[in-house]
Amino acid sequence: MAFGVTCGGAATIVKAVRQHYHKTMIVKLSPNVTDIASIARACEDEGADSVSLINTLMGMAIDIEHRCPKLSIRTGGLSGPAVKPVALRMVNDVAKSVRIPVVGLGGISTAEDAIEFLMAGATAIQIGTANFLDPQITIKVRDGINDWLDRHGCQSVSEIIGCV
Ligand SMILES: Cc1cc2nc3c(=O)[nH]c(=O)nc-3n(C[C@H](O)[C@H](O)[C@H](O)COP(=O)(O)O)c2cc1C
Repeated sequence: MAFGVTCGGAATIVKAVRQHYHKTMIVKLSPNVTDIASIARACEDEGADSVSLINTLMGMAIDIEHRCPKLSIRTGGLSGPAVKPVALRMVNDVAKSVRIPVVGLGGISTAEDAIEFLMAGATAIQIGTANFLDPQITIKVRDGINDWLDRHGCQSVSEIIGCV
């Protein structure tokens, strides 16, 4: 059920969860919306501790020989490098619109990608699809971020968060 695609739906579910769950709540946001910043604000207003974005973009592929969708349920989630520019823009939109921390993801497969998300305003990043190609990717990205910070004379990653 896509309850996160309207401000009202997102607010209702966050409020309901908040009433019963008192530990850290990070709300994962869908990119399949017109204004993700307003949905993030609705989650913040109802007590979310953080938001993470983006989830997958709805996509479709067609088997032209059989003239039917390739996926049995017609549509599916698009992830990986193709979604990175969309994700970065949305992370930047949301980071400028809320006071709670933003977790950025969507197409990250290198340290440079991760640094882009940090500069866009994410205070943490996640990696999904790239793990299928390289199970060591999170360690490589972590080390690459540290190398970049050292080369640029940064004492802490916080020096680059939201610098764009
Ligand atoms: C195989 C697969 C399964 C996923 N399952 C979930 C899920 O259960 N819940 C969720 O919030 N996101 C799920 N996602 C979305 C990812 O967590 C992530 O938001 C999205 O893929 C973008 O990041 P990425 O490009 O690094 O994969 C899934 C993604 C993939 C590829």
